Formats: sequence, structure tokens, C-alpha cells
Amino acid sequence: MAVALLVAAGRGERLGADRPKAFVVLAGRPLLEWSLAALRGVPAIERIVVALPPGFDAPAGTIGVSGGIERSHSVRAALAASLAAADGGDGDPSEPVIVHDAARPLVTPEQFERALAALEQSGADAVVAAAPVTDTIKRARPSGEVEATLDRRTLWAIQTPQVFRRGALSAALAQPDELLAAATDDAWLIEQAGGRVHVVESPRENLKVTTAVDLRLAALLLEERC
Ligand code: C5P
Repeated sequence: MAVALLVAAGRGERLGADRPKAFVVLAGRPLLEWSLAALRGVPAIERIVVALPPGFDAPAGTIGVSGGIERSHSVRAALAASLAAADGGDGDPSEPVIVHDAARPLVTPEQFERALAALEQSGADAVVAAAPVTDTIKRARPSGEVEATLDRRTLWAIQTPQVFRRGALSAALAQPDELLAAATDDAWLIEQAGGRVHVVESPRENLKVTTAVDLRLAALLLEERC
């Protein structure tokens, strides 16, 4: 069995909405409800913990916890709440823990299942959903001068879900607050600690809603599915 941590505590300032991003209504449902529906479709998930902005209640059937200042602080708070809701001990270090951003509403149950299966098969500490990069990527100096063109065949755009062994995630998140604040994903913290991270291919459609344009695109894609 697995637990799922849904991080939904961001303010979503780049979206410019009148409420936190996870509660913006998209194709008839608050953004976070799309990810929750996908999580509820995975039989292996026994508990869902949601990191929330202040003043918001936990959705039905989930455990709510207040989020932290940065994303990884919210993941840490949700991981702690997942233990408190179980036996209160340190938990089974081999238990799979799924971390997913509420900002990715197009995720499907199959994507969670594929990541869980890849964790089993790879023996890695973490597996991250990722899409092959389709743009040419160049590294440039602050002046704008191009320094290098990277080999696109080896590059992946990283998404969530990300699936971890509980022990590895818990050790990675036990690092100082400043290091956590620098992490744009939790797998990076595992890499810093010398852990093994694998990618599992995921469609580009599993996009992250950051700006108003992303929101319009996600709404169109979700409406097509209904
Ligand atoms: O801001 P960004 O879109 O990169 O956030 C990714 C995810 O992390 C979102 O689902 C957001 O709600 C969540 N988050 C959080 N706590 C924070 C910041 C972001 O749960 N302090």
C-alpha cells in the first residue's frame, strides 16, 4: 500500500486569481479536486494528506495539514501528518510515498500506477514523472551570449507525481530549512544526499498550471475528457 501527499498550499501569485491556486475553479471543479479524483482511482493508495493554505478545510476523505513557507516545507508537513494519522511511529521506511502538485490537474490514475510500478522495478529511492524535452535547450551567460547547446536526447522536463521510499524522503526532508527552500522538487534533495532517482515517461499534457494561459489550456483539455 502507499500514501499520497497532495501539496496545495501555494498562493499562486503568478496566476493572479482572487484565491489560492488550488481553489480556482477549472472545468467545474476546484483545481485540487481533479488530482484528488485521480488519486482516489488508485486502489494501492490508502491515505491522502493534503497540504492546505491557512483557513481552508481538508477535502472529504483526506487528512488536511497547514502548508509551509516553500513547497518542500509543505511536503514535510504532509509527510509528518501521514505518520501521525497512522501509528504515530517512524513508519515503514520502504513504504511508497507519492508526492503530487495540486497544480497538475491533468494527472491520471495510470500515471500514479506507472510511477509506483517503476519504483518497485528500479529499486531506486525515487521515481519522477518526466516528459522528453522537445525544445532545443541552450545555456547562456548573463550577457545573453550562448555558452552551450545541450544534448536534447538526454534531457527531461520533470513533473509530479514523484514517488519515494518513505525512509529516503524523510531523510531528505530532515535537512535545514534553507536547503529545503532552494529545492524546486523533492527528488533534488535525494540526489544531493547521493540517492538514486529514476525518470518514468509521462505525457507533456500533464502540465503545471502557473499562469492564466496554462489555466485556459488545462480547462480545454479537461473539458475534452468530460
Ligand atoms: O508555485 P508552484 O506552482 O511551483 O507550486 C507547486 C505546488 O506546490 C502547487 O500545487 C502549490 O500549491 C504547492 N505549494 C505548497 N506550499 C507552498 C508552495 C507551493 O503546497 N508553500
